[in-house]
Amino acid sequence: MDRHAAQQSQVTAATAVYTSSTLMVYDAFVLGVVSPAVWRCPRKVMAAQYDRHVSARHLDIGPGTGYFLGRCRFPSPQPQLALLDLNPMVLDRARRRVERYRPTVHRHNILQPYDLGGLRFSSASLNFVLHCLPGGMSGKSAVFDHLLPHLDPGARVFGSTVLAHGVGHTPISRAHLDLLNRRQVFHNRNDSLEQLETELDRRFARHEVSVRGSVALFEATV
Ligand SMILES: C[S@@+](CC[C@H](N)C(=O)[O-])C[C@H]1O[C@@H](n2cnc3c(N)ncnc32)[C@H](O)[C@@H]1O
Repeated sequence: MDRHAAQQSQVTAATAVYTSSTLMVYDAFVLGVVSPAVWRCPRKVMAAQYDRHVSARHLDIGPGTGYFLGRCRFPSPQPQLALLDLNPMVLDRARRRVERYRPTVHRHNILQPYDLGGLRFSSASLNFVLHCLPGGMSGKSAVFDHLLPHLDPGARVFGSTVLAHGVGHTPISRAHLDLLNRRQVFHNRNDSLEQLETELDRRFARHEVSVRGSVALFEATV
């Protein structure tokens, strides 16, 4: 298998795990139990990050069930909201969750450049997305290069990711990380805090990264 085909099959495996049944338990299990108990980062930390940075023209990359979007406080009653994911079941679930905002829906692999029909955004989020992407931190950071053409100057990019190095791990979180990498749900065995900082520094005017348990939370300005 060549490199491109190998990456395609890893991307398919990492997105195909979100089926109608896993999406049904995602909020309660992944966000409600695994995030606080295994990664030691309660979902209220990510929810607060959404409230701090979400804008009236927001692009959510890898929205999952739309949990955070459904709860966050937009600075406008009718924001321009776009959802971007490769998995159509995710897009459908998240779209229904935030139907009140009439979001646009875009199906693309974020590891490749994509077209959003000329829409531009003043904020974008990638919550719990980077750790799903294959390619090592420098390869997966291409997602920022593909995102930047869709953002206004001064736009905010924020999110969180589970890292293998430079964050806190317990025997339970380390075992969980190994298991998820073996199952190809995560691809973050080599991801480090230092590499994340380097890749953000390369692309953004300013950035901040904070660590909570095994999770790095990042906030960057275009
Ligand atoms: C762990 S879920 C995160 C869901 C949500 N952001 C949250 O924090 O609850 C990862 C999401 O990223 C999407 N995803 C993973 N790899 C992708 C890729 N290469 N292109 C587009 N979407 C991708 C998955 O389909 C899924 O919706």
